[in-house]
Amino acid sequence: MALLEVVDLHVGYRVFEGYLKVLNGVNFEIEEQERVGLVGETGCGKTTLVKTILRVLPVPPARIQRGQVLYHGKDILLMSPREVRGLRRREMTAIFQDPLQALNPMFTIGTQLRDILKDSQERVGRGQRTQRAITARCISALRDTGMPDPERIMSNYPIQLSGGMRQRVCIAEALSRNVRLLLADEPTTNLDVTIQDQILRKLDQLVDQRGASVLIITHSMGVVRDLTQRLYIMYAGSMVETGRTKGVLASPLHPYTQGLMRSVPRLTGQGISDGIPGRIPNYLQPPSGCRFHPRCAHAMPVCVEAPPPFYPAGDNHRVACYLYRS
Ligand SMILES: Nc1ncnc2c1ncn2[C@@H]1O[C@H](COP(=O)(O)OP(=O)(O)OP(=O)(O)O)[C@@H](O)[C@H]1O
Ligand code: SF4
Ligand SMILES: [Mg+2]
Repeated sequence: MALLEVVDLHVGYRVFEGYLKVLNGVNFEIEEQERVGLVGETGCGKTTLVKTILRVLPVPPARIQRGQVLYHGKDILLMSPREVRGLRRREMTAIFQDPLQALNPMFTIGTQLRDILKDSQERVGRGQRTQRAITARCISALRDTGMPDPERIMSNYPIQLSGGMRQRVCIAEALSRNVRLLLADEPTTNLDVTIQDQILRKLDQLVDQRGASVLIITHSMGVVRDLTQRLYIMYAGSMVETGRTKGVLASPLHPYTQGLMRSVPRLTGQGISDGIPGRIPNYLQPPSGCRFHPRCAHAMPVCVEAPPPFYPAGDNHRVACYLYRS
């Protein structure tokens, strides 16, 4: 059984103009101790997916139409608020793009980090439970992220820190939780390029030491190549390709992935104009069938009829495209 399995997930947002159909039948899974990468253009629904999994999506305006998010086979979407709190304390956590969302402006960094460590007491030995030991662990967690002067940071409030420093606090928080699954949603976006690589490697090392699984959402193919075993490519609300990272990068099969690979430097910019015309669709009235069909040079009549399922393409490689129907 997979550690996490998302099945046919449909999620949208009610907005003034109507209903945005964002997640359109997402299927994906993460195994125990697996490192999975997720790559997709801006606006394709990556953060919506992570927030749905963690049950932190604002409902409304969001609406979970249907689907399952199975953690060890149990549907998170059907759990009671108490069960969800327990899950977030002990089993899974996320590092989000926007660190201010995750930090409480009313408490110092030290107070927030100490609370988290006290919360995961079971895994801390009795001798380590003193206040001084907990503080030392917080400082060490901050230092692990490359935070300068962590002793001083402990007495600061989030507002006193720069975006990059807040991001490091969030990373330290997440790593202090000792969870089994870490969802890292572009965790180094607010950091200097020079420090990004260093932090991601540290994160990878710590996840490895703890035997955890990790989902890394990133725009960097270098990060994906170096730090993940398996890769998902997402387009306009659904997964379009997955396989071993090396295999997908070496021979992308979905026309969207092929375009993405040709336009790597532009991933964070305005669409993937290099090789693929057009932009991600308007979610108020998304294209029928394969949502990529208006941009696809290979589109066939069947492509507008129904979304393609995943077709196997060898060596754990699967692709949601009618070109690979056998
Ligand atoms: N609170 C919200 N209300 C209305 N629409 C939203 C809300 N949050 C997200 N959306 C819409 O859902 C779509 C997907 O957004 P999401 O943030 O999940 O994408 P993403 O893949 O994480 O993008 P990025 O790479 O820029 O972080 C976008 O069109 C966005 O405008
Ligand atoms: S299913 Fe059709 S439109 Fe979609 S990527 Fe494949 S060929 Fe193109
Ligand atoms: Mg996002």
